Amino acid sequence: MMAGGGGSAVAGGPALHIPVLGRPAVDFLNVHDGGIFIDGTFGAGGYTRAILASADCKVIGIDRDQSAVARAADLVEQANGRLMLTEDRFSNLDAIAHEAGYDLVDGVVLDLGVSSMQLDTASRGFSFRLDGPLDMRMSGGGTSAADIVNTASEHDLADIIFAFGEERHSRAVARAILKARANAPIETTRALADAVASVVRSRPGDIHPATRTFQALRILVNDELGELVKALHAAERVLKDGGRLVVVSFHSLEDRIVKSFLADRSQGRGGSRHMPEVKHPPATFRTLTKRPVAADDDEIVRNPRARSAKLRAAERTGGPARPDFSSDLLPHVPSLADALKGR
Ligand SMILES: C[S@@+](CC[C@H](N)C(=O)[O-])C[C@H]1O[C@@H](n2cnc3c(N)ncnc32)[C@H](O)[C@@H]1O
Repeated sequence: MMAGGGGSAVAGGPALHIPVLGRPAVDFLNVHDGGIFIDGTFGAGGYTRAILASADCKVIGIDRDQSAVARAADLVEQANGRLMLTEDRFSNLDAIAHEAGYDLVDGVVLDLGVSSMQLDTASRGFSFRLDGPLDMRMSGGGTSAADIVNTASEHDLADIIFAFGEERHSRAVARAILKARANAPIETTRALADAVASVVRSRPGDIHPATRTFQALRILVNDELGELVKALHAAERVLKDGGRLVVVSFHSLEDRIVKSFLADRSQGRGGSRHMPEVKHPPATFRTLTKRPVAADDDEIVRNPRARSAKLRAAERTGGPARPDFSSDLLPHVPSLADALKGR
């Protein structure tokens, strides 16, 4: 399936989602002829097109959204064997590469969050600006936001909205949700946005009062932070010595995880002269971005979504992949299973 290598550029075609920080992301990937690159968040294929256009390389594209994969059938065909696209979670990216026949790859890029297509389709239920079913599942299966909002206890809802939404009025929001659902189940984005707006005030120019609550539910429904932590570990296992990891995040919870992971992994713990007998593992990454790269003013004018984007990049060293330390990186919140018990 990955055979071939036509070498021609595959840029062009409709792009419903404007890629954020696309140029620096591809530059940091160090795309070169003969390389294998994983685009873990295929979306509308903006990054993938740019990678394929940069060199005679191959891309393994991953997206958990079936509609993103279906929409790209033409691009797969045009790529003439240089693009393999799969509907899956990026936490499985190392296994996906192995299945495609690659033990190691040259680069992994993640452009986190939802795409414009997901946000702008009312029936997906991601947007408080469009009325639709309160869904928020990127992959269409599993627990929806409505299931959580109508089942979780006031206490769990408040904790989730505080931890994943960084909403300081989380207790008032949880109370408002319980009051609203006592009248009728909250089944639509509008009903939830109205309940939140009844207790969170906003001044003109502020973000919408429901922004943080929607973010919290979306993160929980899709296990977004758990997926990110697992993907970072998977990238560490599958990148070759000198391979590149590039992550674009859109809020501080994501960026904090990437920053902490890279800080830990780029420390060559060669032992200390005070404790020479202790053996520490060598660094597995060398950080390439001391500070995160942000979009410039021009990009923000063209694409306001770029305003909160932060890009971090690192190069894999030859050090062996380290054991998982996921739990240290994740905020402590009720699990989805606990929230659904309505404890
Ligand atoms: C911001 S968009 C990516 C846009 C893409 N870079 C482009 O230029 O078109 C994020 C995409 O990642 C997908 N996604 C988010 N989390 C995922 C996960 N854990 N596994 C696989 N895909 C995921 C979403 O479904 C969405 O299509």
